[in-house]
Amino acid sequence: MKRSLLCLLLLGSSAALAADGFEIQIERGRQLFLHSSKGTACSTCHALEGHGNAIGPDLTRLAKVAGPRGLVLTIEMTVTAFVQQISLRNGRTFPGIQKQKEGDVLKIYDLSTTPAVLLQLKSAEVASMNSNSKWSHPPMSAGYTSEELADIISYLKFVSTGVAKAVTVSELR
Ligand code: HEC
Repeated sequence: MKRSLLCLLLLGSSAALAADGFEIQIERGRQLFLHSSKGTACSTCHALEGHGNAIGPDLTRLAKVAGPRGLVLTIEMTVTAFVQQISLRNGRTFPGIQKQKEGDVLKIYDLSTTPAVLLQLKSAEVASMNSNSKWSHPPMSAGYTSEELADIISYLKFVSTGVAKAVTVSELR
């Protein structure tokens, strides 16, 4: 009885070993995404698998179609597509991302603080919205290693496509 239990355990662990490359990588990526202590964790501003805050864009849209190189470029982007420099009539200027516009009311995340604050503004309160040159995507300066980026990208690809596949460092640059 005892021996067969041991056999089962051994069999189980060797099966796990055969699959481990990408499964372990995806799990490392998931943990970095959720809790990384480097800079600000991705989940502070992106939601995936029901965790995190949907302040930045839904990453599954891009990760479905982009390869590892494209994803690194956007993670380390200096030019933004959605974040804008918002100036209010009261003189305040801040980097913001518009989430919603309903009639006369704009919902804009103020990215000048972490966590970002959701503002509800009347369009008359907004003086201008211009392209952003001041806000930079936090991972840019967080000092992620190539290995960590590969882990995060294998996780992003897995969540977006359902395909579990290892991502190597040489695929990133
Ligand atoms: C402080 C908030 C914040 C944090 C932290 C953050 N992001 Fe972002 N992210 C954004 C915002 C806002 C955008 C939209 C930028 C723009 O205007 O193009 C964005 C855009 C992206 C994009 C491009 C999406 C697209 O559809 O264009 C990717 C990929 C991405 N982030 C991945 C990550 C990953 C991975 C991490 C963690 C390593 C991370 N982000 C951390 C706020 C954040």
